[in-house]
Amino acid sequence: MKKVRVAVLGYGHLGKWHCQKVEANKDVADFVAIVEKFPAGQEAARANHPGVKVVSDISEVMSEIDAAFVVTPTSTHFELVKLLLENNKSVFCEKPLCSNDNEGSKLLEVAKNKNVVLQVGHSERFHEAWEKLRGRFQNLTPPFTVRINRVAPFKGRATDVDVVQDLAIHDLDLLLYLFKQKPVQVAAHGYKIRTTNWDHASITVSMEDKCEALVVVGRNSSKEVRELEVISKDGMITVDLFANKIYEATSSKFEDGTFVKEETYAKRDHLLLEHQNFYRSIQTSQPAIIGLKDGLNAVHMVDCTLKAMDLKTPVQVKLG
Ligand SMILES: NC(=O)c1ccc[n+]([C@@H]2O[C@H](COP(=O)([O-])OP(=O)(O)OC[C@H]3O[C@@H](n4cnc5c(N)ncnc54)[C@H](O)[C@@H]3O)[C@@H](O)[C@H]2O)c1
Repeated sequence: MKKVRVAVLGYGHLGKWHCQKVEANKDVADFVAIVEKFPAGQEAARANHPGVKVVSDISEVMSEIDAAFVVTPTSTHFELVKLLLENNKSVFCEKPLCSNDNEGSKLLEVAKNKNVVLQVGHSERFHEAWEKLRGRFQNLTPPFTVRINRVAPFKGRATDVDVVQDLAIHDLDLLLYLFKQKPVQVAAHGYKIRTTNWDHASITVSMEDKCEALVVVGRNSSKEVRELEVISKDGMITVDLFANKIYEATSSKFEDGTFVKEETYAKRDHLLLEHQNFYRSIQTSQPAIIGLKDGLNAVHMVDCTLKAMDLKTPVQVKLG
């Protein structure tokens, strides 16, 4: 099968890891170029990938590639993804696909009738825990409550965007992916603590069948927590996404006489899995595992949340 000729756009914090994954998939990917706007990043890219062309603008290599990984700041995603699609290139875009609904509808228009793959980097979907639990989550007896906590001490990264676009988008996407009941309304409030953007957000998502999710995200926390908890009449399931553990407390005792069952699930290389799925989709002309619709719906959830925070009033969700 023909190798996929790729470029990675952005040689920053995450772009470096994407480049490693391209190298790790040399049987299917031909690493043509790294596109990095600034000299410091270009120098680092040249040092770490001597056989790969390093350029400052995508136009310099557009004719040499089949596909590109967009790993640049979120504010640049829309223009770059649009340009790549217009040039009939397959695109893997890191989350969020774009900055707002308005950009999203323009991308939808550009993507129409294009025979390419568009995959979005919602990497949190690749936890093995969801393979074990999604079926059960989809069949939960409503109403149920979901609590998601994703907080960490300040790291100084991604301050060009707020915490909703940077962190909550993972959890808003997980809500759409894991549960049958879809969001209908979002209420939210937040705090600007260290930056001029929202650094903390508390988001209440009302879902169908009277289900509810409370998503708390923050980048100025005293500790690091990544946890998803589901509470229903059947008991409680907690997933510790840091420790890769599932805890379960049902209405009865477990076989060994305990009230809480603990299970460890395997830690996986999410980025590697994303790359493998992307190349497979291109080579077999199959839709992306996480595609345009998923990306746009996640952006819509972010848009609703930000509006709810700014206007201090609940906002109705209209998924595509
Ligand atoms: N899936 C995840 O879990 C996850 C984790 C971290 C970051 N991200 C996403 O990845 C993206 C990048 O994040 P990061 O932390 O690597 O940012 P970063 O700032 O460390 O790196 C971005 C790089 O892109 C370069 N750049 C800017 N404009 C460019 C352009 N037009 N062409 C080429 N290069 C350009 C910058 O010089 C910089 O080196 C963000 O959208 C972020 O949301 C996703």
